[in-house]
Amino acid sequence: MIPPGSKADFSFEEPPVTEKIEDIELRLLLEALREHYHYDFRGYSPASIKRRLRQARVRFACDSFSQLQDRVLHDTAVLPELLGYLTVQVSELFRDPAYFRTLRETVVPHLKTYPSLKVWVAGCSAGEELYSLVILFREEGLEDRTLFYGTDINPESLRRAESGVYDLERAALFTENHRRAGGKSSLSDYYTAAYGKVVFDKSLRRRAVFSDHSLVSDAVFAEVHLVSCRNVLIYFDRDLQDRAVGLFRDSLVRKCFLGLGAKESLRFSKHSESFADFARDERIYQKQDLK
Ligand SMILES: C[S@@+](CC[C@H](N)C(=O)[O-])C[C@H]1O[C@@H](n2cnc3c(N)ncnc32)[C@H](O)[C@@H]1O
Repeated sequence: MIPPGSKADFSFEEPPVTEKIEDIELRLLLEALREHYHYDFRGYSPASIKRRLRQARVRFACDSFSQLQDRVLHDTAVLPELLGYLTVQVSELFRDPAYFRTLRETVVPHLKTYPSLKVWVAGCSAGEELYSLVILFREEGLEDRTLFYGTDINPESLRRAESGVYDLERAALFTENHRRAGGKSSLSDYYTAAYGKVVFDKSLRRRAVFSDHSLVSDAVFAEVHLVSCRNVLIYFDRDLQDRAVGLFRDSLVRKCFLGLGAKESLRFSKHSESFADFARDERIYQKQDLK
């Protein structure tokens, strides 16, 4: 027992005051972004949000998150660049080729039994994942019966997705990924190269719609046969992951497919019982009928 009047010897260490203040300022900054711009990052994993906002603080030459808050509230031009820090835009055509090879070999045969199809790429970044699926569906004879939805919260990424233009230096990697994904054609059939860029054929967008949709705050918008959502849930806390997976479940036609890719899983999800493993390594799930 601790004698009355003596100081308790707590074995854990309190974070330093400056860090506590930084956390308060960070909370207020996220609140301001939500209230003023309707971007809600409060349920994103705190460590990575803090790390990225620290980088933004340096970029905007602000000494504190409070200063950064002031800047973004009073200068709307700051927001797009700040969103670039808050959302990670890394992507590739046929990124993680084994995922696309597995879709081709195991999911596509099921999809071929449907007369019409809808595919939702949630968190589509600049369109790389969506174009990969359109090409794969074209190679498999499914493109003409499919509508593709690509959604994201970053307007600049959606604009780049609409344009289908990428740096030429990325083409070699895209081509190699496509080959490893079991590509049945030459990737160069789908783009033209000029002035250091590759421009993907606009026929690939014939059946594609890119739109603003947030997994944090928006609702289901279509009934779909395949949801592909890779490298997005890792940035969310558990509650937000549950919300997103709930949206996917409610969007999917029964017995249809959710692809998360090898880095994510439904293991701890509140909705795991709504899905069965379909391709375990690539974390492709099939929606179950609940009893
Ligand atoms: C790392 S990229 C993944 C791109 C692609 N799916 C892939 O695996 O290559 C993550 C994407 O999720 C988007 N994102 C972040 N929060 C989101 C949200 N609440 N709703 C929809 N998309 C979101 C980001 O803007 C970014 O484009």
